[in-house]
Order: sequence, then C-alpha cells, then structure tokens
Amino acid sequence: MTKPEWRRREFLEKCIVRGGLIAGVPMTANQLFGFWQKAEAAARKPTAPEVLGPFFKKGAPDNRDMRVAGEPGMLLQVSGAIVDTRGNAVPGARIDMWHADHKGIYDVHGSRYRTKLAIESGATYEVKTIMPGHYPDRPAQHIHYLITAPGCKPLVTQLYFATDPFFEGDPDKNRGKRGVVSHRESIRPVTLLDEASTPHAAVSFDLVLESA
Ligand SMILES: [Fe+2]
Repeated sequence: MTKPEWRRREFLEKCIVRGGLIAGVPMTANQLFGFWQKAEAAARKPTAPEVLGPFFKKGAPDNRDMRVAGEPGMLLQVSGAIVDTRGNAVPGARIDMWHADHKGIYDVHGSRYRTKLAIESGATYEVKTIMPGHYPDRPAQHIHYLITAPGCKPLVTQLYFATDPFFEGDPDKNRGKRGVVSHRESIRPVTLLDEASTPHAAVSFDLVLESA
C-alpha cells in the first residue's frame, strides 16, 4: 500500500506542475515538501469538548492561587499553552476554571475554587489550587474550563487526572466506566513533586482552540 506521506508528496508535486501551488520565495519541490511537512507537524488537534455542567457561575475573580487557607487537599499546579489548531499562540484569552473542594462539594454561593483568568500578555496560563475531590454524580476528579479568545470558538472542556483512583491505574482501560470521561486525551499525566518539603502535583493541559 502507498504510504500516506508519498500520496501527499504526489499531490503536492501535481499542484506544483499545474501551477496550483506557488511559493512566496523560490523553492525546490523538496523544499516545498519540507515546508508542507513542517506546517503539518505544528498542527494541533482541538481540545476535546465536554459539557458545561450545572455548577458554572459567572463573575469569578481572576485568582491565580485558588488555595484556601486552612483547607486540606494536595497542592495542584495546572499550566498550559493557549494555541490554535495551527499551533500558533492565542493571546487575550479568558479562562474560567472551577472545581469541587477536597470533599467533592462545589461552592455555589461564593468563589472558592473558581477563577476567571484574564490572559493579557502571552498565551500561557498557570494556577495553583488543590486536587479536586470526588462526588457521586461525577466520580472522577476533574476541573471544568470555559475558554473564550479573540478569533476563536468558545471551548467548554474538562481536565482529568491519570493518577485518579477512579481509573484503577489504567486510564486507557477504565476511562469509560460509568460513561464519565468521553475523551482519553482529557486525562492528563500527573507529575508529583516535593519542593521545599511541600509535596504537590503538577499537570500540563494545553488549550487548543478552533478558529471562529
Ligand atoms: Fe463537575
């Protein structure tokens, strides 16, 4: 069977021969093919959407450290890039994040474990919080997201944790239990760190937005 790479190359060469593809600067066919491959490699799959859920509240403050003094829970650092499907940085995003406390209870009256980040410069985000608890209706730990950004479609998604006991050490096998997690890529690896005798978990979760 012909490799997809060669089918693409044949397609590209036909475009060049027929004048359907013109480089802005003089390039050989090989250079053009390399250019094409590089552009494809940078492409990103959009972050998988999830439901908004019943606990979203408008008006959260921009809080980069959601920890609450005196409340238990493992420190969790979540960070990532905000990019489009071409891999380009997307500045100017607004990111609502909200999750349950260590007991699995949402604050429906105030703003505990809620934030709305205003990313004024750059295209990355980082927050400190605690690892969310479990609750009966959604027995996997998760953080909800609502992201808006100029020129992009709004995205509602959720982040899950590969270390969650719910997955019994095997997210690939167990993510579908009770229909909780729709997309495997929403379950992120967790790095456990012990800096200055403060154990904490760190997770990277990039937000890949589709153009509007
Ligand atoms: Fe939830």
